[in-house]
Amino acid sequence: MKKRVLLATGGGDCPGLNAVIRGFVKRAHQEREWEVLGSIQSFNGLLEEPTNIRVLDPKTVSGIHVRGGTIIGTTNKGGPFAWPVRGVDGTWEAVDRSDEMIRKCRLMGIDAVVNIGGDGSQRISQKLFEKGLPVIGVPKTIDNDLEATDYTFGFHTAVQIATDALDKLVTTAESHNRILIMEVMGRDAGWIALNASIAGGAEVCLIPEIPYSTKSIMNCLEERFQRGKYFAVIVISEGAKPVDGAVSGFAGNEVGYENFRLVGAAARLSAELKAAGLELDIRETVLGHVQRGGTPVAYDRILAAQFGVKAFEMVRNGEWGYMVAYRHPHMVAVPLSEAINRMKFVDGDCNLIRTARGINICLGD
Ligand code: F6P
Repeated sequence: MKKRVLLATGGGDCPGLNAVIRGFVKRAHQEREWEVLGSIQSFNGLLEEPTNIRVLDPKTVSGIHVRGGTIIGTTNKGGPFAWPVRGVDGTWEAVDRSDEMIRKCRLMGIDAVVNIGGDGSQRISQKLFEKGLPVIGVPKTIDNDLEATDYTFGFHTAVQIATDALDKLVTTAESHNRILIMEVMGRDAGWIALNASIAGGAEVCLIPEIPYSTKSIMNCLEERFQRGKYFAVIVISEGAKPVDGAVSGFAGNEVGYENFRLVGAAARLSAELKAAGLELDIRETVLGHVQRGGTPVAYDRILAAQFGVKAFEMVRNGEWGYMVAYRHPHMVAVPLSEAINRMKFVDGDCNLIRTARGINICLGD
C-alpha cells in the first residue's frame, strides 16, 4: 500500500501556492510509493463530516503553477485548536478539535502532513507536531516577514503589483498636480512599501518600523514644490503610524477570525496632511487584496517550486517538526519551534533604507 501525505494551505492566500503544490506532487510522484491528498480549506476539509479531501496527482496539478490562489482553498478562520461552534444561546465558542484531527489522520492512514501557511498556520503546525503528528511546514506570506527564510514566495509578486500601481499613479498625480497616497499591505513589516517605493520612485515612503511625523513629510513636499513640482506619490504601509499615534484598524468581528484588521492608514494620513495645511488635492488608493491575486511572477514560481520539491524531500527523510526555508543559495530545513518565534522587520540601518534615503525618498522621520 502507498504511503499517504496530506497537504493543506492555511491563512491568507498568496501567489505561488499552486506552484508549491505542483512541485510537491510532481516530486512525490517520482518516488511511486507516495499518494498525495489535499485537505480543502486548510484543515477544515479533514475535520468536516463527510471529509472534504481530494487526491492530488500529476494530472490534477498540471499547469497550475501560473494560477494565483490555491486549488485546495484556504481559510484564516478557526483551525483544529479553535474550531468555532455555536452554542444554544447563539454565541460562538472556540473548541479544541486537535485530538480528533490527529485520530482521523491515523484512521485514514495519513503518514505525514504538510502545512503551507504563514506564521499563524506554522504555530498550528508546531502544536500538532508537539502532540505527535508528523508535520512539516512550508512558509508563505506576501509580507516577507519571517526571519527564518530570506524570501517567501508571493512577496515579489506583491511588490510588482504595487510598483505597477505606483507607476500608474505617478502619471495621474502629475497631470492633476495632486498628492496621491497609496496604501499597501505588509502588516507590521514595511517590506512591500519600501521595495515598491524604490522600484517606482515614490517621493515619500512610510513604514511601520519608522513612525512618521507630518512635519517631516510637509517639509519634504515643500522642498519639492520649491523645485516646481506640484505633485507627489506617497506610499504608506497599512501598519504605519505617526510618532505620537497608533495604527488604524479594528479587531475583526468575523466568527473565528482573530487578526486585528489594519485599515485606514491612507485616509488618516490624508486628514493629517490637510490639517497641517497642505493645499493641493489629495486622493487615496488602497491596493488591498489586489496584491495577493493573480499570476505569480517568475521569481515566485521558481521559489515556490523549490519549496514544494524540498518539502517532499523532507517528508521522505522524516524531518518532522521542521519548516522549509530559503537561505540563498540553499533550501534548508529549520525547526518550526524557532521559525515561529522570529519575525523579520525592516532594520532602520539596512541597505534598502540607505538606498531609499540616497535617492531622496522621505521616510517621514
Ligand atoms: O499577511 C498577509 C496579509 O495579506 C497582510 O498583508 C494583510 O494585513 C492581511 O493578510 C489581510 O488579511 P485578510 O485576508 O484576512 O483580509
